[in-house]
Amino acid sequence: MGIEFSEQEKLFRLQTKTSTYQIRIDETGILRHLYYGLSVGTMDMGYLSSYQEQSLSGDIREPYERKHDPDFLPQEFTGAGIGDYRISGIALTAGDGSKSVDFRYSGHKISPGKYNIPGLPSVRGKPDEFFSLEITMADVISGLELKLLYGVMAEYDIITRTAILTNTGNTGMKLEKFASACLDMFNTKLDLLHFPGRHCMERQLERVPLDHAIHTISSRRGMSSHQQNPFLIVCPPKTDDDQGDCYGMMLMYSGNHKSQIEVDQRGNTRIVMGIHDENFNWNLAPGESFYAPEVIMSYSSSGLNSLSYNYHRLIRENVCPEKFSKQRRPILINNWEATYFDFNTEKILKLAREAKDLGIEMFVLDDGWFGNRNDDFAGLGDWYPNLEKLPNGISGLSKKITDLGMAFGLWLEPEMVNELSALYTAHPNWALQDPGRKPTLSRNQLVLDMANRKVQDHLYQSIATILDNANIAYIKWDFNRALANVYSNVPGANQGETAHRFVLGTYALLERLTQAYPEVMFETCAGGGGRFDAGMLYYSPQIWCSDNTDPIARLNIQKGTSYGYPVSTMGSHVSASPNHQTGRTTTLKTRGIVAMSGTFGYELDLSKCSRPEKDEIKSQISDFKKYYWLIQKGVYYRLSNSSFNDSFEAWSFVSEDKSEALVNLVMKDVHANGGLPSVLLKGLQADAWYQVEGTTKKYTGAALMHGGYTFPAYKGDYPCEQLHLMKL
Ligand code: GLA
Repeated sequence: MGIEFSEQEKLFRLQTKTSTYQIRIDETGILRHLYYGLSVGTMDMGYLSSYQEQSLSGDIREPYERKHDPDFLPQEFTGAGIGDYRISGIALTAGDGSKSVDFRYSGHKISPGKYNIPGLPSVRGKPDEFFSLEITMADVISGLELKLLYGVMAEYDIITRTAILTNTGNTGMKLEKFASACLDMFNTKLDLLHFPGRHCMERQLERVPLDHAIHTISSRRGMSSHQQNPFLIVCPPKTDDDQGDCYGMMLMYSGNHKSQIEVDQRGNTRIVMGIHDENFNWNLAPGESFYAPEVIMSYSSSGLNSLSYNYHRLIRENVCPEKFSKQRRPILINNWEATYFDFNTEKILKLAREAKDLGIEMFVLDDGWFGNRNDDFAGLGDWYPNLEKLPNGISGLSKKITDLGMAFGLWLEPEMVNELSALYTAHPNWALQDPGRKPTLSRNQLVLDMANRKVQDHLYQSIATILDNANIAYIKWDFNRALANVYSNVPGANQGETAHRFVLGTYALLERLTQAYPEVMFETCAGGGGRFDAGMLYYSPQIWCSDNTDPIARLNIQKGTSYGYPVSTMGSHVSASPNHQTGRTTTLKTRGIVAMSGTFGYELDLSKCSRPEKDEIKSQISDFKKYYWLIQKGVYYRLSNSSFNDSFEAWSFVSEDKSEALVNLVMKDVHANGGLPSVLLKGLQADAWYQVEGTTKKYTGAALMHGGYTFPAYKGDYPCEQLHLMKL
């Protein structure tokens, strides 16, 4: 397992536990993609691809042969303008105005451990977990050097990729597109699974058959977005949760992204994934390099649940900050849906005391505590306490809360500013805005120019001052609008660089803060789940999954999210009923079960809860604590996709050693004469006996997985069930 190069065969073999990835340096020096899929051992998969003459396409000259046609040849990365007419991973204008690039192999290096990408988050790797391959390619005429980097994490069935472009010539160039990875696949009919959505309805799974129209999944909003997530899966049509080949590609990036999937004239599929090229151009001066964000790839031969498992494990253990995956994170109460902007110290302390009595461990003070912030028209940017609401400031309030025996957390929206703020009055040119044009407002706010080092320094100082003067365990880092007027007022800025420099600036600030305050846990957020991506997860072990806290809406949001991201990252709270976003009424039990399949917390006015409801909250908290590691680290299975009955959602967590499982079922609809909901459980030990906790019911793993578990007939609105199975 790992990476091998055969000089004789000119073949790179990248081997994970169950997959093989092969690359050949061919007779023209092109890096040919031979295979990605189920492990084939040492078999040379070169027989699958060969040069063939392709009518009306270009022929490579060196060495010249009419059959040396790159237009259908599977390649590891593309050139541009040289006769491969499929989507390209690169576009640029050289100093002389030319736009063609033709990369050929020039060397490689294999080393233990994981490469780093300067300025960008990437999968963390302990030296013994990773092998890295760096293949260098050169375009002699332009002086461009392309490095393709591969990280092989064999045990996790993960291959990471990125690309670095360096100008080794004497003249400057303008880079107009530069993808992180290109994956060419042979003639197979494939479906595309992707995760579109909107505010309050993020990551709704869509599955479409690929055809000859190019599919694009992208964001031009300056954030990875509610609308399209930088994660996709391709698989043959017969693949489902439990069986079949599937391939995932996830971009570890929080800004504009673009993935294109093209089925070419011969039925081969090309996927190109990276930063969005619209309004992007980067000045690449002689000697300078451009680093593309990382792509995390995984393959499974046994269906989508198993592919999800590969991502879940990797993100939990090698993307999120290690400290917070190893310790149980506190159950929190957030005051947003309890008070919105209307609070003072007494109200906050009352809520905190009530929460403490029920066993809640951390109080999070949300929006409205700073500057002149009494609604969403003013105050963003003024990160000092509003003394009318909080006469003793954040340090006074945090002391009172910590004296109650609770941790204290605070909301911030660092990258934003209101025109009605002291910060904007002092530094109007710190906001992104075009000269002479009134900038577009969204939620009455503007976006700060994170590409400006002075802005980064100012934010660092403001946040450090808060953290230095109060006892703060947690920061909720919000981002409540998309970018517009993407114009940096830094003198001499190349505006084609602003959107990417914005993301680099945010990463730089998060890096500084998380290094300086390693004890503080960050939860990122963007109007709910508008920046739910692996880039953000590098800094924050959890992300507020959606502003929609309705448990029934959350079923699809959390399920869609689960294809790529573990439940340990999904911020999820029990809120009031009727729900504030949908007006739907649900039981506290249903709200609890759904929120437990996430980070778990509360976000409602506890003083409105009855005594029995408070008792129920106490028992939810004790259940969550009891099942914490099973939920956070257990293998997650989507259970309902294979049932004909679509009136419920079911999912489970099974401990790695298969000794226990937590099965959850929520009825989305109850039908008269509808039959009994039944699900086939997954991941149990076939020959072991399991007992349903609190009952005398016993079943073998085989019975539960192949016969199923039958739930009773339910009545009422959105009933639910949570079963704990223990191996006997
Ligand atoms: C966003 C967040 C909410 C809340 C509000 C405050 O919408 O997603 O949870 O913090 O901002 O303004």
